[in-house]
Amino acid sequence: MAPDDKTRVLIVDDIAETRENIRKLLQFEPDIDVVAMARTGREAVQLAKETKPNVILMDINMPDMDGITATRLIVRDVPTTQIVMVSVQQDTDYMRQAMLAGARDFLSKPPSADELINTIRRLGEISRENERKLSVATMEASPVSSPRKAGLDGKIVALFSPKGGSGCTTLATNLAIALQSEDTKVVLVDANIQFGTVHVFLGLKSKYTIVNLVQQSEELDEAFLQSVLATHPSGLKVVLGPATPEDAELVLASPLKKLLEDLSRLFHYVIVDLASVLREQELAVLDVADRILLVGTPEIPSLANVKKFFDLSEKLEYPKDRIMLVLNRMDKRWGISVQVVEDRLKHGVRAQIPFDDKTVVTSINSGVPLAIANRNMPVTQAIFDLAQRVREEFAPKEAPQANKKPVIKPRSLFDRR
Ligand SMILES: Nc1ncnc2c1ncn2[C@@H]1O[C@H](COP(=O)(O)OP(=O)(O)OP(=O)(O)O)[C@@H](O)[C@H]1O
Ligand SMILES: [Mg+2]
Repeated sequence: MAPDDKTRVLIVDDIAETRENIRKLLQFEPDIDVVAMARTGREAVQLAKETKPNVILMDINMPDMDGITATRLIVRDVPTTQIVMVSVQQDTDYMRQAMLAGARDFLSKPPSADELINTIRRLGEISRENERKLSVATMEASPVSSPRKAGLDGKIVALFSPKGGSGCTTLATNLAIALQSEDTKVVLVDANIQFGTVHVFLGLKSKYTIVNLVQQSEELDEAFLQSVLATHPSGLKVVLGPATPEDAELVLASPLKKLLEDLSRLFHYVIVDLASVLREQELAVLDVADRILLVGTPEIPSLANVKKFFDLSEKLEYPKDRIMLVLNRMDKRWGISVQVVEDRLKHGVRAQIPFDDKTVVTSINSGVPLAIANRNMPVTQAIFDLAQRVREEFAPKEAPQANKKPVIKPRSLFDRR
């Protein structure tokens, strides 16, 4: 049998005996090759990237990273791999979480030899078929035959708070307006898919919502977008949230991610407002975001949740500089300074927005954003500063200091004085 026809398997379990038992069950199958074994979720992610197995047999409870988180990461990084959860957990909630993370099947522990081998063969075939498709697609997408999808290299900036009511929508709407200019095209996406309020903040109505956009499987073109995007008097383009909470079901994670990617080819900035929950949809947005503005407030429950989010982002292997911590509703009266927050969270604060309930609530209730009606107020100025920070994040970096030292050139024959 050619090595390409064999199904490569990675076994993941923290108990050595379990790993060995499964390996023994598979050792006499000529078409199955156990390529590696991992003891923890983190090791599984590493080995999956290195060995690109067809099938992974994944335990759930393990030290350092559980099997569900590992599944999410592997599905993202090695998309041809098929993952089977092998667990004593029969809890439907675990099953659901594993399925949402991208697992393809479940086996209860200890699996019978027949069950195990049949499942591996079935999923192995799917995986190898995916590998074939991917290699054809990669060949077709090679620079010679078709260049990278044309368009702008727009930046996706998501606003997320791990505690509701922290000010994401206030900041998202005003940041979007602050970023846009004649030369800078900005679209604001209300991805708070159950209780989005962007339309209220901006005083907008439209019969089209994000639901119409995520149902488009083709790549979005400008003509279609012109007809379905709402336009704010400032010129800002807006994708409104679903009309009813039930419609959230129609906004699935991967079409949502594709929508944002399509928009980033047509706009310089795609600003995304999110709800304070982490479901598949929110995670898909955070995965694809170039920057996450993590919004906290100077209150202990908010900061405790911000800490949890930082911990999660490490598990999800987000690069540190993807997250910009923003503190909203800052006021000396609350007794928590930026310094206290930075010491507690071991993370720098990238912007602080002052507390000003009168200006903010009046603006929201009138449907006229701060960035238009209250440009000179300190709260708005702080949002303009935030917009400037965001611009700077994506500005071409200057050459390192060392290279900038004035170079004393040796005088050459060609010097003219
Ligand atoms: N800087 C601020 N100073 C005073 N009040 C503020 C400030 N920013 C926001 N608020 C108030 O906080 C409330 C929540 O703001 P907002 O709706 O923007 O938060 P959110 O994180 O989007 O909330 P949700 O969880 O409902 O999506 C609003 O009533 C708003 O007026
Ligand atoms: Mg909101």
